[in-house]
Amino acid sequence: MTDHLLGEEARVLRPDGWWRSAVVYQIYPRSFQDSDGDGIGDIPGITSRLDYLAELGVDVIWLSPVYRSPQCDNGYDISDYRDVDPLFGTLADLETLIAAAHERGIRLVMDLVVNHTSDEHPWFIESRDPASPKRDWYFWRPARPGAEPGAAGSEPNDRPAAFAPSAWTYDPVSGEYYLGIFSPGQPDLNWENPEVRQAVYAMMRWWVDRGVDGFRMDVINLISKPIGFTTDALDPSGVEPTYEGGSGPRLDEFLAEMNREVRLDDLNLLTVGEMPGSTVETAIRATDPGRHELNMVFTFEHVMLDRVPGGQRWDLVDLPLPVLKNNLAHWQLGLADVGWNSLYFDNHDQARAVSRFGDDSPEHRVASAKTLATVLHLHKGTPYVYQGEELGMTNAPFTTIEQYRDISALNVYAAATAGGVPTERVMHFLETRSRDHARTPMQWDATDAAGFTTATPWIEVNPNYPTINAAAASEDADSVFAHFQKLIALRHDNAVVREGRFELLLPEHDRLWAFTRTLDDERLLVLANCSSRPADLPLEDLPDHVDAELLLGTHLNGRPDSLAPWESRILRLDQS
Ligand code: GLC
Repeated sequence: MTDHLLGEEARVLRPDGWWRSAVVYQIYPRSFQDSDGDGIGDIPGITSRLDYLAELGVDVIWLSPVYRSPQCDNGYDISDYRDVDPLFGTLADLETLIAAAHERGIRLVMDLVVNHTSDEHPWFIESRDPASPKRDWYFWRPARPGAEPGAAGSEPNDRPAAFAPSAWTYDPVSGEYYLGIFSPGQPDLNWENPEVRQAVYAMMRWWVDRGVDGFRMDVINLISKPIGFTTDALDPSGVEPTYEGGSGPRLDEFLAEMNREVRLDDLNLLTVGEMPGSTVETAIRATDPGRHELNMVFTFEHVMLDRVPGGQRWDLVDLPLPVLKNNLAHWQLGLADVGWNSLYFDNHDQARAVSRFGDDSPEHRVASAKTLATVLHLHKGTPYVYQGEELGMTNAPFTTIEQYRDISALNVYAAATAGGVPTERVMHFLETRSRDHARTPMQWDATDAAGFTTATPWIEVNPNYPTINAAAASEDADSVFAHFQKLIALRHDNAVVREGRFELLLPEHDRLWAFTRTLDDERLLVLANCSSRPADLPLEDLPDHVDAELLLGTHLNGRPDSLAPWESRILRLDQS
């Protein structure tokens, strides 16, 4: 057992607003480091790599789920919130990790998955009995009027699940259907029931007592179901919102209640809510400090810009730079005075940023990984680094469906091919956007399986590991890793990076991403060439920076009036 940081003591160690200067590192445990030779990453593996994170300089670990789980969605389907899955170790291993992280000044945030449980959670098993007091903890509904229960097309409504053809699963024992908006293995909890809410808050307090420093809240806006999801009240407009369409009417009320009941703000815990479909307006409400809901949210807007609105998931469009940078700027301005942004390109649900927004060819990979990081980390908000992003890890070159593991990838493939979509089209979608690209093993060194495991890894290692790996990066002063170290240090050391007002320059320029950050009499200018060709700088449209101090640059071409391919510069402007 470790010394937990309880109550007031924890509060002292977590000063007010500490998360505003923090950089968070996300660990996907199954793919980070295996310690017991089963091909799957685990908690002792993470503990063995803490010095690496300390060297990088991050302040917080966000741990993707390690709870007991049948793993239908790699742990985002929890069957026991108060235990660790044997796949990842034991509760004692987790306590050791928390203590070892704290010793290094690194805080730890748990993933909180409470929109749904696993279908193997005892609450759900109990709720299968119509007479059970837990029946109302989930959404059980009869077949649609006049339809034969269990027959095709009798589901209470036509809503598809994110990872299955229907959001409704028939239970022959009670003759009713339950709602699982992600998959049948992930039944949705009914937050309208106050007992459900209290059970979740009690569990959260239990984790706070174990010394965790906050929560990343999975699809938290869906705890209040959008109108029409449960068929209770159909949207009078007749327009059925999709699961990406935001939240239901009680979200703010539930979040404020959770904050109060778990003392989230009182204890200065970090809270970040994943909110697909959220807008600047919903984010302002959720992150206004005066309302005591959340510190920040993960918006999905910038990672959905290459999708066709209302189209199928495999329908992708090109994403011009102005669209991307103006979207981020819209959030910067929207949350400039009230609320707070989270900043991310990569996570366990996204393709690798360097392959998606950069250029992952051998010629430009390093420069583009650095420049994307420069741009993101110089925005205002809390940056999130996803494991391997700091090495410039790329998408996996998978060519057959058998190489994919993700429930989402397999479902998209099945749905598309069943619907007659050409295989090449859906494979192209998976090659560019599958969540599995983020989930290939962390590349530690050039030994077999990239030093991730001594066994066969659960998903193939990216074959580029002999060149792209942490050991190689640590020997190279110009590595992507070294650049992330500098960006993180720059944030820690400069109030203007943390708090400065953001202003986008050259909003329509299709290759340059330029902006300023201003705090009192300090002003930074960030210039980035987001293309694989040299770019002239339109000096007449930029603040004068010819004699400005260079705080951080990538491979400089040495000319004040142009940038090399994927070159970026952070300059301190003379304000006198
Ligand atoms: C979130 C998680 C994702 C998961 C889904 C359902 O979007 O990030 O990995 O599949 O919620 O829990």
